[in-house]
Amino acid sequence: MTRIAVVPGSFDPVTLGHLDVIERAAGLFDQLHVLVVHNPGKTALLPIAQRVSLLQESIAAAGVKNVLVTSWSVGLLVDYCTDVGASVLVKGIRSQVDVAYETPMAIVNRDLAGVETIFMLPDPAHAHVSSSLVRQVAALGGDVSPYVPRSVANYLQKDRG
Ligand code: PNS
Repeated sequence: MTRIAVVPGSFDPVTLGHLDVIERAAGLFDQLHVLVVHNPGKTALLPIAQRVSLLQESIAAAGVKNVLVTSWSVGLLVDYCTDVGASVLVKGIRSQVDVAYETPMAIVNRDLAGVETIFMLPDPAHAHVSSSLVRQVAALGGDVSPYVPRSVANYLQKDRG
């Protein structure tokens, strides 16, 4: 049986913390789907299609082969999981704040469709890194290269002109 897991998120933009979790999760499953989902609770920086292509570039540059990057905008996250035969979600957990945010969603996703959630700890070197911090530093003209893959840093730099 092919073991498929989904790593969902806003990825606005993908950070080195995300990439670390994606790389290690890819080693645990036959196929990993990285799914860009619009989060209505957040003010977006990048269009969904741009987030997908930056993820694809970053994952290819990291040499990870068994990962599919796509987006999902219709219905529940667990509907996507059911459609592709995935029974596991993987989430990166940096702190107790993330545990508090993710736990109710994990329980609801299990209630809705029996989809289990695995929490993975990112490398502590990335524990302080978040997309929202990157968006803020980029918006104010700072250097985001310590926090994001090279393709993202290049894109955000170019975006500033
Ligand atoms: O990176 P984020 O913004 O923290 O990701 C949050 C995300 C996209 C994973 C979350 O908003 C989500 O799961 N959305 C899908 C909507 C859904 O299925 N909700 C019901 C079950 S929680």
